[in-house]
Amino acid sequence: MRVSILGTGRMGTGLVRVLGEMIPDLQWGSRSLAKVRQKIRETEGISGLIQPVTNETALEAEVIFPTFWYRDLLPWAAEHKSQLSGKILVDIANPFTSDFTAFTLDWGTSAAEELQRLLPETKVVGAFKNTFFSVLEQPLHQGLTSDVFVTSDHEEAKACVMALLQGIPFRVLDGGGLQNNRTLERMTLFEREVALRYGSYPYVSFRLFGMGTD
Ligand SMILES: NC(=O)c1ccc[n+]([C@@H]2O[C@H](COP(=O)([O-])OP(=O)(O)OC[C@H]3O[C@@H](n4cnc5c(N)ncnc54)[C@H](OP(=O)(O)O)[C@@H]3O)[C@@H](O)[C@H]2O)c1
Repeated sequence: MRVSILGTGRMGTGLVRVLGEMIPDLQWGSRSLAKVRQKIRETEGISGLIQPVTNETALEAEVIFPTFWYRDLLPWAAEHKSQLSGKILVDIANPFTSDFTAFTLDWGTSAAEELQRLLPETKVVGAFKNTFFSVLEQPLHQGLTSDVFVTSDHEEAKACVMALLQGIPFRVLDGGGLQNNRTLERMTLFEREVALRYGSYPYVSFRLFGMGTD
């Protein structure tokens, strides 16, 4: 199964670092091939087996992680609707304003649900919503991993992504249906606000007690 990550920003780079360890032929896409090649050369901890590609080539994978801002994600998804049909699309986007003070969506929905609504023939899976980029750089905290909640309305697609994530230095939990992203996305903004107050942002993540030890 081909897997691609699109975007060379903070989350794209962090996810490539973490997933590149587990997925040898992982494709890393960008709007600029030169940019992604440069990123691979200069980023510490990136596997030498990562394949730099354009975003267009990355669309050929079966599991696709776009790491764009929500405001860029929806126009991109609309433009590539037919190529995304039948694929698993892993959504990490939080619909925050650019100053991180509020949401750009109403209470009764979430980025993941809006994406699924736009792409009915695509299997949208939410993940890493609450995982800030610096946690991807340093996942172990005091010897503990934090939780990644995987959500979808497509059980097989969710199971596929959870299997793909096995072995990453995070605890991967079934987060239920896409509707739970209404909570997850909002909890992430809350997490950020509290972490800023206590001086730990962006190194902050969740771990639930009582859920086993691995
Ligand atoms: N930052 C966090 O800690 C964090 C945590 C959880 C979830 N998220 C979510 O992850 C997403 C990315 O956040 P980030 O902090 O990594 O953002 P970022 O550093 O700004 O990176 C976004 C990347 O998207 C690509 N891009 C930018 N504009 C685009 C466009 N118009 N069309 C297509 N691609 C475009 C660019 O890569 P190329 O130039 O290579 O194309 C850019 O580097 C957001 O939706 C955010 O809500 C972020």
